[in-house]
Amino acid sequence: MSRPLENKLALVTGSSRGIGAAIAIRLAADGAYVIVNYAASPARAEKVVKEIRNAGGNAEAVGADLSTVQGINKLIASIDQVFGASFGGRLDILVNNAGTVVFGPFMEGAEDSYDKHFNLNVRPLIALSKDAARRMLPQKWGRIINIGSIHGESAPIPGVTMYVATKFAVHGFTRGLSRELGATGVTVNAVQPGFIDTELSPANGQAEDMKKLTSVGRFGRVEEIASAVAFLAHPESAFINGENLTVDGGWSA
Ligand SMILES: NC(=O)c1ccc[n+]([C@@H]2O[C@H](COP(=O)([O-])OP(=O)(O)OC[C@H]3O[C@@H](n4cnc5c(N)ncnc54)[C@H](O)[C@@H]3O)[C@@H](O)[C@H]2O)c1
Repeated sequence: MSRPLENKLALVTGSSRGIGAAIAIRLAADGAYVIVNYAASPARAEKVVKEIRNAGGNAEAVGADLSTVQGINKLIASIDQVFGASFGGRLDILVNNAGTVVFGPFMEGAEDSYDKHFNLNVRPLIALSKDAARRMLPQKWGRIINIGSIHGESAPIPGVTMYVATKFAVHGFTRGLSRELGATGVTVNAVQPGFIDTELSPANGQAEDMKKLTSVGRFGRVEEIASAVAFLAHPESAFINGENLTVDGGWSA
């Protein structure tokens, strides 16, 4: 089996479940040593690590609540403290996946709606990208992959205005940083999923309406986002930079 990411260290934020877990499992299957970040559930993160190890891969769970500056700093410190002996402070692949959405009309939203969305969907993504780029630049190779959303390009449904604002920020940041790092061997891209059946966007009462808007007629699977991330992480994807890759079953066609 081909292992294009052999000897690479990959960090996937929020990878104890959902899309992040699928990305961690896929990058490990492609040969990367994966840091499985989680905020609240060590048991679920350990389950992901176990699945990776059982399949012959390498992974370690690191707890850090990325909605706080302390959590971001803790995760950054672990790259040296936990993995420094094996990887010398290197980081090859960063996948900024952790994210949240609070559904409901903007005008009825809680006062802390801004903090809840921006402190998780945007602040750690920017801080971790800066730290990762510092580690990647000397080796002239790196992949920063941000998980955006189709809500980062338009606002297809009401009731998620703050989420839309954060995902537009993710796409804008992706383009801006890709422009700055373009000639260094470090690429910066985003994957923008459509509706994927996870705890964040469960196939609930709206499911049938959502499916009708997707030309392939179903919700996406987490593995289908993971393969798009693996594609962008692949050494052969060096000429793809600043791209927001839509994986939405034709929703936004
Ligand atoms: N599911 C969808 O339909 C969909 C569509 C477009 C984009 N996305 C994006 O995909 C990403 C993953 O979403 P998902 O659907 O797997 O959702 P999910 O709720 O299942 O997973 C979110 C992940 O983020 C982690 N997380 C939550 N708070 C955290 C914190 N404070 N610190 C660190 N990690 C934290 C969770 O533990 C979990 O692993 C998000 O960025 C989301 O915006 C999802």
